[in-house]
Amino acid sequence: MVQNSLSSASITHNLPTHFIGQRVIYYPGLTSTMGVARREARSGAVGGTVIIAGEQTAGKGRMKRTWLSPEGSLALSIILYPDALYLPSLIMLASLAVVHSIDTVTGLKAQVKWPNDVLINGKKVCGILIESEVKGNIVNYTIIGIGVNVNLRLSDFPEILPTATSLSDELGRDVSRLELIQCLLVEVDRLYLALLAGESMYEEWRDSLVTLGKRVQVKWGKTRYEGIAESVARDGSLLLRCSDGGLTKIVAGDVTLRD
Ligand code: BTN
Repeated sequence: MVQNSLSSASITHNLPTHFIGQRVIYYPGLTSTMGVARREARSGAVGGTVIIAGEQTAGKGRMKRTWLSPEGSLALSIILYPDALYLPSLIMLASLAVVHSIDTVTGLKAQVKWPNDVLINGKKVCGILIESEVKGNIVNYTIIGIGVNVNLRLSDFPEILPTATSLSDELGRDVSRLELIQCLLVEVDRLYLALLAGESMYEEWRDSLVTLGKRVQVKWGKTRYEGIAESVARDGSLLLRCSDGGLTKIVAGDVTLRD
């Protein structure tokens, strides 16, 4: 039987991180961890503070979508105060931390769909939302929001069943959310310190992308691009070879794989 009850004390107990998760605020239920994290950041919460919800009733996704996060899923937001130069790398860092921790805890091999959806067997298991308040060249704060479908029976959620999966559906058994959260915080801590020490996440992130070499459609607002996802630049943008032979650099958008 997997232990699935969470608390701030159980998450921080013996957590071997330098600063990520040394302060954890846990709510059994919440509208969205992003809102609480934003308020905490604006009132000067210590860097590495983590807001975790047992379930969210109004989870936020990218592009103003909602994010389903019932009991059994993992929903957390991490507060950081990075230098602006690190912002493009945080997208890479967050998705790699998720891929690594899923592998460590479950043995499942996940891949990244540009820019930072995490997929298992072609279906989305995790979404990442990064919000920053930036004035000029100064980052007031950054919040990394991570949602993972951990112990969900996707057949109970027909609206996302065609495109989503969960760790428990992939494994045929439940996974310890506590173990996954702790492992994820350790990974974010390790990668963030590596980044500050000058290491690049770029090569590993690029090599973990399921998107490259594939025919894709990218939506950004009302704009649609179609072509072959040729490469990614070091700033995280996607380089798309369009049918007229030109290379388009896309900084944000939603990718659908066409192959
Ligand atoms: C996406 O793929 O659209 C991003 C989903 C991000 C969901 C996480 S769950 C924790 C945090 N709180 C939220 O309301 N959203 C993010």
